[in-house]
Amino acid sequence: YLQDFTNFPMGNIVSAFKLSSTSSANVDFREVLLNDYNSITAENDMKMANIFTSAGNYDFSDGDAIVAYAKANGLRVHGHALVWHSSVPGWLNSFSGTNEEFEALIEAYVKATVSHFAIEKDANGNSIVASWDVVNEYFDGGSIRSSIFQQKIGDDFIDKAFQWAREADTDVKLFYNDYNIAGEPNKRNLIINKVNSMISNSVPIDGIGMQMHLNHNWPTSDLPLAIQQITDTSLLVHISELDVKANYGNDVTELTATRAQEQADQYQNASYHYTNIVPTAQQYGITIWGVRDQDSWLYDGGGDWPLLYNNDYSTKIAYDSFIDGLKGN
Ligand code: G3I
Repeated sequence: YLQDFTNFPMGNIVSAFKLSSTSSANVDFREVLLNDYNSITAENDMKMANIFTSAGNYDFSDGDAIVAYAKANGLRVHGHALVWHSSVPGWLNSFSGTNEEFEALIEAYVKATVSHFAIEKDANGNSIVASWDVVNEYFDGGSIRSSIFQQKIGDDFIDKAFQWAREADTDVKLFYNDYNIAGEPNKRNLIINKVNSMISNSVPIDGIGMQMHLNHNWPTSDLPLAIQQITDTSLLVHISELDVKANYGNDVTELTATRAQEQADQYQNASYHYTNIVPTAQQYGITIWGVRDQDSWLYDGGGDWPLLYNNDYSTKIAYDSFIDGLKGN
């Protein structure tokens, strides 16, 4: 099983309904989950759009179900994601109050959510929710993204969000999370400069999440330098959303042997360089963004096969290659 090959947490994503459903597919899902993984991220249930129902009102029920399952099964929960431009509830998107009122709502949301999920502890007194992606995707290519948070709070909403989260919980690990950190050197430099300035200004930050949504035909050569540069910040490093699109150009109708091998090579490249470059003390783990192909956000009605397991939960060759990388091959 995957978790047997690592000294760091191996993660995958869950939804509350899959953890209680008695359908055979979800029973099988939970068997794979508990065999291969010891860390979970909520795919959607702990996002702002799912929790923040109206000003001052929070629905934590699905997140609570995930935390209860994790506690019962000895899993770590990585919280995802407090402040993300793509998960703003509709009522907040059309908020017509002042910028100060908007900021107060976000501050209250971050503090209430972090405080709430700090309550459940394991037998050693550690929080089940060990960490949060505090801000997701602050940058867009070569600049700060023009999000509702940037417009109403200002460029420093990121510093404020991390400070609010820290005020709510002194122990939880606080992450900045973004995509294409390997593939876009400009973006990578912006992230590293921002994180380093947060550190020198005593803005609390503990780690960086490299989402790592890859494609089968992307160059693999950027990855070691990117992982090294992220590691050089001295923060924790999490590969937080790994998957590999196998039909980037929509030019095949099934996962051909060639594609399956290219995909496997991408998975192996990621697990190999993570294992070899990131020192143990900075390894926060690798989280894969889905179990079966058909559950992936990239599945496209059967037009892609991005994950390590077929729809019947049998493993693909990418699974074995991923393990080879974990073993240092
Ligand atoms: O559950 C509702 C359903 O009740 C409703 O009828 C339907 C109609 O739109 O929507 C369903 O919710 C969808 C949800 O996925 C569950 O399937 C949302 O619309 C849809 O926006 C949501 O997409 C998620 C996406 O983030 C946006 O939040 C994907 O599942 C999730 O995999 C994806 O994950 C993101 C990470 O959080 C951040 N990094 C990128 C990654 C991939 O986009």
